[in-house]
Amino acid sequence: MEIIFHGHAFVEVENLDSSILIDPFISWNPLCDVSLEQICAKNIKAILVTHWHSDHIGDTVNIAKATGARVISTFEVIQYFVKYHNLTAVHSMHIGGSFKFDDFSVKFVNAVHGGAIWPEMLPWKAAWVILTVADKKIYHAGDTALTYDMKLLEDENIDVAFLPIGDNFTMWIQDALKAVEFIKPKMVVPMHYNTFDVIKADPVKFAQLVTLGNLSTCKVLSPWQAIVF
Ligand code: NI
Ligand code: MN
Repeated sequence: MEIIFHGHAFVEVENLDSSILIDPFISWNPLCDVSLEQICAKNIKAILVTHWHSDHIGDTVNIAKATGARVISTFEVIQYFVKYHNLTAVHSMHIGGSFKFDDFSVKFVNAVHGGAIWPEMLPWKAAWVILTVADKKIYHAGDTALTYDMKLLEDENIDVAFLPIGDNFTMWIQDALKAVEFIKPKMVVPMHYNTFDVIKADPVKFAQLVTLGNLSTCKVLSPWQAIVF
């Protein structure tokens, strides 16, 4: 199994002959290492969307239409995909709920962040997602502030946690360190930094502080690099 980082908050979990995508932001993502064509040429089983912001919805609609991948998100986001883009391979979930699909499972958890369902611009909350594939638990925090709820994730025994560190829209390095302390993942990967001018952060500094505090193992991934199990 490979957990591939594609820049910003776009993560691909490839297992055997298929992939699951989380927040596939390709077009307009200056850090993304793959093209829409390359992704659409793969066997994409599912697309998980944490919240309705353009850097997380990304190219979900185009990928879903080209590959037939099932789109999994919170109810309101799925309603948008169905109503405005006629997607039919969808699965609605909500915060606090888990669902076991054929060979992976998904749980949505409350993030401290916003979102808005276009075009009505109805405000909506963002989610974290916990994806389990081949006995590995991956926590993708989407966009979030630091919150004490993260302490509850300690019981999930997270193998790999993707945490935003870019500040402005999300946690910054010091808050992300506190998050690592709460979650106690076996491994942590920083994300959501250096994509835009307002979210500049130093992932190496974050990694050093994780190591210094003996909090976890930190892997700084360049877009295209992967964690291999
Ligand atoms: Ni956001
Ligand atoms: Mn974002």
